[in-house]
Amino acid sequence: MKAAIYPGSFDPVTYGHLDIIKRSAEIFDELIVGVLNNKAKTPLFSVEERVKILKEATKDLPNVKVESFTGLLIDYAREKDIHVSVRGLRAVTDFEYELQIAQTNRQLSGGSLDTMFLTTSLEYAYLSSSSVKEIASFNGDISQCVPDFVARLIYEKYGINRQ
Ligand code: PNS
Repeated sequence: MKAAIYPGSFDPVTYGHLDIIKRSAEIFDELIVGVLNNKAKTPLFSVEERVKILKEATKDLPNVKVESFTGLLIDYAREKDIHVSVRGLRAVTDFEYELQIAQTNRQLSGGSLDTMFLTTSLEYAYLSSSSVKEIASFNGDISQCVPDFVARLIYEKYGINRQ
């Protein structure tokens, strides 16, 4: 069975992430969405909330599992006996950062963890969790960026009541 991990912060999950999840779930027998529990960052959603949101957003994809992890991705992958990490590339601006992470992970894991890149579908190429949060915080429209139930939760975090 071929399995992969799609790691990320997912704070919050966007249609761009969901596009990568759906497409990788068609390539691999099992896809684990690994939500990073990063103590150094102050996220909008707690790791438990992010996992819950992702589980709801992927409930129709039977071969997708959502979990959280702390520490290094290579340790989490080794624990699961998984050898592929999936990441989405939106534009060349992502490339340098992603290349560095991919090479670091391959080096640190002794060649055991490879990274597979999927190019984000064009309609989502502009999306990022940070811009979604910024738009929502100013009561802007994020309906094209995230599923409705996620949008409601984001506005709630900012104390915004949109009719
Ligand atoms: O959604 P993000 O924040 O761009 O995801 C970044 C992520 C989670 C893939 C990356 O920060 C990560 O894997 N962190 C875990 C710690 C780690 O393994 N670091 C070594 C690679 S530099």
